[in-house]
This record gives sequence, C-alpha cells and structure tokens, in this order.
Amino acid sequence: MEVITINQWPLSGFNDYRPDLEAGNIVFFPTTPFALSEVSKEFLRTLDFSGGAVHKNIAYRPVIDRVTGVDPKSVEMATLHDVFREYSRNLIQFARELLPEYAAAWKLDYASFRPLEERGRDLPVNKRNDLIHTDAFPSRPTQGDLILRVFTNIHPAASRVWITSDPFKTVAERYAQDAGLQSLAARSTSPAARLRDGFLRLLNRLHLPVFPRSPYDRFMLRFHDYLKRNEEFQSSTTKYRFEFPPGSTWLAFTDVLPHSVESGQYALEQTFIVARESLASRASTPVAILERLCGKPLVA
Ligand SMILES: [Fe+2]
Repeated sequence: MEVITINQWPLSGFNDYRPDLEAGNIVFFPTTPFALSEVSKEFLRTLDFSGGAVHKNIAYRPVIDRVTGVDPKSVEMATLHDVFREYSRNLIQFARELLPEYAAAWKLDYASFRPLEERGRDLPVNKRNDLIHTDAFPSRPTQGDLILRVFTNIHPAASRVWITSDPFKTVAERYAQDAGLQSLAARSTSPAARLRDGFLRLLNRLHLPVFPRSPYDRFMLRFHDYLKRNEEFQSSTTKYRFEFPPGSTWLAFTDVLPHSVESGQYALEQTFIVARESLASRASTPVAILERLCGKPLVA
C-alpha cells in the first residue's frame, strides 16, 4: 500500500484520486487543506473531560446539525457546536472539490473529535484502536457502500501514528473463510433469513430503531471482531507504519484499508458513506471480493 502526498491545495488541475483510495491507499495532505482556526483547535484541546463529561468521542451529525457524546452541563455547548459546524462544513466543501464523483452520491455520516491519547487506553478487545481491523458500524449498515474517513491531527506537537496492512482483498483471501464467510452466506440467503430481513427493512421504514443489515454488513461486523481477536493475524500480517504530523489531513476507505492507531491525541474526523455507483471500479470493493469468495450475493 502507498501514501499519495498532495503538497499543494487547491490542485492546479483536476486529478482523479478514486482509484488510489479504492485500492486501499492513503491520500495525505501535510498541511490542513481547509480552514480550521487555531482558536477552534485550542478550544477542543482544552475541553475539560474530567468527571466523565465525554463518553468516548464527541460526535457531530452534519445532516441534523447536532452534537452528541458529551454532557451538555459540563462544556460550553454553544461554542462546541459552532466549532463542529464550521469544521464539518469546511471539510465537506474541501472533500467535494477533491472527490466530486463521490460527492454526487455520498451520504454524510458523523464527524467526531477524539480527545484521548490512544496509547495505553484500557478498552475491551472489540473497542481497541491499537489492534489492526477494518471498519464496520453496528448502527449504520452500508449495504455494500464504502466508508470514507477524513482525519486531521490537531495535536500541537505530536504525530498520530497508524499501523496499516495490505488491503481488504489480501486479508479477506487469507482469513474470510476462517471468519465464517461461507456459513454466514449460506444462512443469510435461506428463505427464512430473507423473510426476516424483509420484515426488519419494513420496521426500519416505519422509523423503528432497528438496523436492517445485509449479509455483507453482518460479515463485516464479524470480520472486524475476528481480526482484532486473531493473535496470529495481529502478529504476522504485513505492517506499514505512518506518522501523521500536527496539522496534517489524510483520507482512506477504512473498510478497505486494515488499520490501527499506535499513538496520538486530538484528532478530528468526518465520515462519508460512498455509494458503489460512484466508484471508479466496483470490482475491488469488499462486497465484490466477498461475493466472489463465497459465490453468493451478499447485498440486495
Ligand atoms: Fe477503525
């Protein structure tokens, strides 16, 4: 895998970075390619999280303009909201200019602020960020679309350090069957399972809090946990180490690129769900790879 560095923004001419991202590479900007003031960064870095004021990450949903994950009594909510709104808007505008084909059909997902030092965090295995994994969201199934994440390191001095591995195809060819792909695909495509999935989709359309997952989404959740729990994978997989310095921004499909965080504090992140129809190549998506491996359709 590669890091494609863009030293100058805006670009002097258009360049299509979709094939790079879809292959599991990282697109990297050494300096922040959108407006983000020192005052905003300092405000985020000096939030007081003592006394359990923050749950894990602070999240912002651009679609409904709402901040969650923080005790409103403990922080200056109006300012926090303004900072997130400005960050998310500027970042989305930048991403739209960089990746216009994706922007035509993407879904805006959450933005988040990660205030805690990643090194040495005491978390259950499934939640650990220091174990290499591919992303999957329990409450936001993608139905085969891809998870694009844009990160910005706002630490004043320290790099954020990632360990990555070879892209999804390599890891899936080696481990997907052991993770139970074949049996999950067989069970998921039975008449009873189809009936159940149709019923869940109906409940979801009635705005009930159920998350209808395709067989693909179920497998990706399972694979996320499987990779984190697999000591042989964690120790023997090919590893690439990257240091993202303060002020840098980077983008990756985090369901295509296996990754972990070795260290780092204070990162901002915005997620986009990128429609398969807008990709440069649909053949290299995780869902296409898994369907080839198991010989069954995994999304409707
Ligand atoms: Fe992740």
